[in-house]
Amino acid sequence: MTDIRAIAAAALPDAVAWRRHLHANPELSFQEHETARWIHERLDGFGGLSVSRPTPTSVVATLKGGRPGRTIGLRADIDALPIVEATGLEFASTREGVMHACGHDGHTAVLLSVARALTGMRAELPGEVRFVFQHAEELPPGGAREIVATGALDGLDAMLGCHLMSTFDAGKVSVSGGPVMAAADFFDATVEGVGGHGAFPHQTIDPIAITAQIISSLQQIVSRTVDPLESAVVTVTRINAGSADNVIPPSVNFGGTVRSFDQALRESIHERMHRIVEGVAAAHGARGSITIDPAFDAVINDVALAAQVEESALRAVGEAQFQRIPPMMGGEDFSIYARVAPITYWFVGARNPEKGAEWPHHHPHFTVDEQAMETAIAVMTQAVLDQLSA
Ligand code: NI
Repeated sequence: MTDIRAIAAAALPDAVAWRRHLHANPELSFQEHETARWIHERLDGFGGLSVSRPTPTSVVATLKGGRPGRTIGLRADIDALPIVEATGLEFASTREGVMHACGHDGHTAVLLSVARALTGMRAELPGEVRFVFQHAEELPPGGAREIVATGALDGLDAMLGCHLMSTFDAGKVSVSGGPVMAAADFFDATVEGVGGHGAFPHQTIDPIAITAQIISSLQQIVSRTVDPLESAVVTVTRINAGSADNVIPPSVNFGGTVRSFDQALRESIHERMHRIVEGVAAAHGARGSITIDPAFDAVINDVALAAQVEESALRAVGEAQFQRIPPMMGGEDFSIYARVAPITYWFVGARNPEKGAEWPHHHPHFTVDEQAMETAIAVMTQAVLDQLSA
């Protein structure tokens, strides 16, 4: 029997070094050229992998086992965010305004570690593993759909992935069947009125006063039309209008995001948003318009596959480290992989206030407890080994 814990412990020092290299050299979504080249070099160095580049900034490595079997995909996201890092870490970003503030540097190091460990067991492995280093998770429409469109993932029997979480205690693991991350939509709305002098509002159609009512009405969608036992979010995150204190502007532009799990609910929220923006504007003689981009579908784990991954996680880290956390309203383009195979996406705790790892994701102080990567390596290795012979 393979000693997964020993494999993960032995892999940790290189994983830490790799994560720190990536952390110091972050690249934005769709611009991960150096990152992809660096990953490609590491994979070539392991020997035995066939490495391809389905898109300019993504990398897929294929490991063929010694005998026939299933084909399992493993995914890490590799992109960083437009954030000015404020951690003060010795391996902090060397690129002003770009930061690995979501743990994708850790995901990449973990997947490289799993790839190297499995390469060493190649002769005894059944089937095939595809290691997917995915670009552009952070920027809709995301990189997953581009990789899937190339056919690089055709023939998969299952697709697995995990996320390190700074909001969940280091060493803990959560695997659940069903919904784990929300559908994420982004909207852009405009209210066109008639501008004019601030002292003569009766000669204008004031789009600011109308937009204020629209935004208030949007708050009614979740509070008054969604079943209290269901989950949804409508958030306005930006609003732009006006240039002077004595001028009523001709128009207002605003936008934000919608989150939900259920597809029918998602569609009904979109319909209500159209009705409110267009209807409230029309009631005041203005013209309201809204476009809603359904960026990411909800990540809904295959129930049977998730139950198997849960077994693998229990085997890898023990019952004491297993703790199921509720679904999150965050979005993830991992949902795209459900178009090619059953998926399971799980969470590995990386919170440790003693090491400064207690800030939320996408925060300038965000960091992870690197020890959590050992847990992530153990669970992912166990899960893929179990799936290959499932
Ligand atoms: Ni992330």
